[in-house]
Amino acid sequence: MPNIVIVGAQWGDEGKGKVIDIFASKVDFIVRYQGGNNAGHTVVIGEDEFILHLVPSGILHKGKTCIIGNGVVIDPKALLDEIGTLEKKSIDVDGRLLISDQAHVIFPYHKRLDELKEEKKKKIGTTKKGIGPCYADKAARSGIRLIDLFDEEVFREKLQNNLEEKNAILTRIYNVEGFQFEGLYREYLNYAKAIKKYVCNTTVLLNEALKKKKRIMFEGAQGTLLDLDHGTYPFVTSSNSTAGGASTGSGVGPTKIDKVVGVVKAYTTRVGEGPFPTEFSKDLMDKIRQKGKEFGATTDRPRRCGWFDNIIVKHSVMVNGIDEIVVTKLDVLDTQNSLKLCTAYKYNGKIYNYFPSDIKTLAGCEPIYEELPGWKSDTTQITSYARLPKNAKNYLKRIQALLKTKIVLVSVGSDRRQTFAKDA
Ligand code: GDP
Ligand code: IMO
Ligand code: MG
Repeated sequence: MPNIVIVGAQWGDEGKGKVIDIFASKVDFIVRYQGGNNAGHTVVIGEDEFILHLVPSGILHKGKTCIIGNGVVIDPKALLDEIGTLEKKSIDVDGRLLISDQAHVIFPYHKRLDELKEEKKKKIGTTKKGIGPCYADKAARSGIRLIDLFDEEVFREKLQNNLEEKNAILTRIYNVEGFQFEGLYREYLNYAKAIKKYVCNTTVLLNEALKKKKRIMFEGAQGTLLDLDHGTYPFVTSSNSTAGGASTGSGVGPTKIDKVVGVVKAYTTRVGEGPFPTEFSKDLMDKIRQKGKEFGATTDRPRRCGWFDNIIVKHSVMVNGIDEIVVTKLDVLDTQNSLKLCTAYKYNGKIYNYFPSDIKTLAGCEPIYEELPGWKSDTTQITSYARLPKNAKNYLKRIQALLKTKIVLVSVGSDRRQTFAKDA
């Protein structure tokens, strides 16, 4: 298998974890390149369910090396908790998990600022993990990187400078308590000690591995419509979740990446605020949410659900350069009499065939639908494309035709085995 990027083509939670797990056996390295523990990637193996937040989903495959790249933001406490949870389930990460020394570190003041901003009326609906404020510090060039934690003097000075500024914001703007230096400094020096064995220059490591013809899979977090540049700004996350981020977030040049695979849910979901043109009304929302178990893997919030939106996935195919598609959760639509596919938007009498840049326009867009008959039968036990009901095949074929992109794999359940290739 070539070096590939797996990217979410909607608003996240498309089933990337499952897809990464399926492809992992064919690669040597699995690399997270952006985001942090705002992600929640589920892998189901028989009776066992694993939810990965920071550790790449490939960790469940013995012998694979998992990398947390420079583009990821790391909450060390969350990381250590996650490693502990994996070890309790007999998944040993030692020697197989490596973390970039250039990755930025999330501090409690990032989380506090994230929470306080979310108390405002015009909130984003973030995961409150401190992701946005940490990336803001990175861009402002005041962030603290993992490498800084290993030099007590450098860390002391950086933390002092950061606290001075953050405490001023917390006490004067938000009227809440600030953070004490000493406790935080000691706490993070202890984390540094605990994670040191995982930390190295992963950029050099990956590029050396490429020279030896090792294969890499990049694990996108979030989804294209949550990308800082290409998503529904400002209702986005604070990193580049699109395929381009794989390069900047790992130090592997774009010429070394061979393929981009988009993971697409057979319908659409979104967590948090922001426009969602094909969102269901209440009854259908409740039904699909229950059937698809659409509750956040990180925050447990109910996910908003809606019809498949070709405009947003077409946008994803374009901005990621998606070569192939994996369709997940087809089974969730098993009981529908008919299905709608959004093929265009209408706003103020104008037809939009492309995703509008202006968020106000998007919020006012009315979807134009095509309706297809449902298949009304259980697909969860199906193990080959040939055995899918005719109407399910037609639904997939129509999506493929609209996107002008090949569907290579179909998923009809959360288990590894509930997956099959789509014939031409
Ligand atoms: P990710 O963030 O893209 O990795 O996706 P999540 O793990 O947040 O959410 C996807 C959810 O759908 C998880 O609970 C998966 O176990 C589940 N899932 C994945 N593929 C399928 C599928 O084909 N059918 C059903 N019913 N569930 C699936
Ligand atoms: P995975 O990798 C779905 C959403 C949040 C919010 C916005 C900004 O599991 O697909 P943030 O905390 O990142 O500043 O929140 O982004 N969000 C996700 N939605 N799946 C995710 O990750 C998400 N990560 C962030 O709900 O709307
Ligand atoms: Mg998720």
